[in-house]
Amino acid sequence: QIIQPPLVAWANGAFSHAPVIRKTTRIQDLTAVFADGQAWRSCDPQLPVYTVEMLETPAGEGELWTGVTHLNPGKVGNEFFMTRGHFHARREQGEVYFGLRGQGLLLLQDEHGKARLETVCAGSVHIIPGFTAHRLINTGSEILSALAVWPTIAGHDYAALQGGFALRVQEENQQICVCEVQNG
Ligand code: 6PG
Ligand code: NI
Repeated sequence: QIIQPPLVAWANGAFSHAPVIRKTTRIQDLTAVFADGQAWRSCDPQLPVYTVEMLETPAGEGELWTGVTHLNPGKVGNEFFMTRGHFHARREQGEVYFGLRGQGLLLLQDEHGKARLETVCAGSVHIIPGFTAHRLINTGSEILSALAVWPTIAGHDYAALQGGFALRVQEENQQICVCEVQNG
């Protein structure tokens, strides 16, 4: 028997021939994520920042999720739109991201608070090791889409990063500017 697998369009990350779970994160959901609280409050709370589409596949030990994050272009104040970012609840579990379209950065941070950035573009491959928090940042003017594969047992720990990441990516004089955060 020949089965039609799910299809992903490499050009835009759209899934077809498969049921997906879709979750949209809006400005109002991203409390205390952006540096400029006043600019954040002045944004339309309903404005979608990113949508994650995941294949409906079985969960459990040894199983993998496959999902695409579509991160809109935009800024809060002068800070680029980004995902909330997280460690995996199961800290040792890694993940792989594949850039599909757009221009951006993947912010990676270890448990000691040491951060680094990788450029995300169509075709980029990002090996996120265990014990490493990760956040996507859209520094471009089109949607940034990235395909990800990660263990279903990984889970998310958002609370561990409530103090924020050690780096912020902002626009200054039409340039992309990376700032170090003191309390990161
Ligand atoms: C995961 C993946 C990825 C991520 C989204 C949204 O572990 O689930 O890293 O699907 O969840 O890019 O990012 P946040 O979960 O940080 O909002
Ligand atoms: Ni993850």
